[in-house]
Amino acid sequence: MTIQGQIVVITGASSGIGAALAEAFAQQGARVALLARRGERLERLAARLGAEHTLAIPTDVADFAAVMQAQAQVLARWGQVHVLVNNAGVYPPDGPLWQTSPEEWRHTLDTNVNGVFYCMRAFLPAMLEQGYGRIINVSSSMVETPGAAAYSLSKNAVDVMTAILAKELRSAHKDIIVSSLDPGWVHSEMSPDAPDDPRTVVPRALELAALPKGAPSGKKWRA
Ligand SMILES: NC(=O)c1ccc[n+]([C@@H]2O[C@H](COP(=O)([O-])OP(=O)(O)OC[C@H]3O[C@@H](n4cnc5c(N)ncnc54)[C@H](OP(=O)(O)O)[C@@H]3O)[C@@H](O)[C@H]2O)c1
Repeated sequence: MTIQGQIVVITGASSGIGAALAEAFAQQGARVALLARRGERLERLAARLGAEHTLAIPTDVADFAAVMQAQAQVLARWGQVHVLVNNAGVYPPDGPLWQTSPEEWRHTLDTNVNGVFYCMRAFLPAMLEQGYGRIINVSSSMVETPGAAAYSLSKNAVDVMTAILAKELRSAHKDIIVSSLDPGWVHSEMSPDAPDDPRTVVPRALELAALPKGAPSGKKWRA
């Protein structure tokens, strides 16, 4: 399957890597649902990419009811979903575990872990029904980093969810492939000091979105 004409859902599409991926998928001829909390940014991006093949859906991925509303909007507009890119994420202030505020800890796991689970929980049934799907969970190389316990834990959880879901799908749903993607260190609101452009993530993301049936599932890739 090529990306042309596919329905792609991207979370965290209001900036950084998510916005770069949204642009790239739209340029490949995909229909792209843009999810994030800042609706105005999504509207501006949708207008720039072409309103006829984009859908801006202000959504807090940490809120399952909101994610289900987004799913309903995508299915009402296009009836299917082929690719889900779980990219939304937050990075809390650096500091040792014992100084991390419980609120920051919860917020990080709510967004980076529960948000990924909620989106897979919401969009997988349509993929199962159509017998096709590609899920890309944006992870990190920071999985055991001192000073970033909550973030590291959250990205470990993303990798574990990816691996477990792949095993669950393996026997009966071979054409649904789930991947973790470490994007490298790229310039964004989260990483203002990083050297690389978020567009460096595009080639690998497009490749994972178009993996052929039988390709490895549950694997962690580097951009
Ligand atoms: N940049 C790097 O070097 C790097 C390295 C490794 C991994 N990553 C991962 O790459 C992903 C994208 O990060 P980025 O670097 O592009 O940073 P970014 O520019 O800060 O983008 C984060 C995106 O997530 C969205 N988001 C945050 N909380 C959300 C929520 N509750 N609901 C919906 N959307 C939410 C933000 O949009 P709103 O604020 O509008 O909601 C924004 O669009 C993250 O998962 C991050 O952990 C980045």
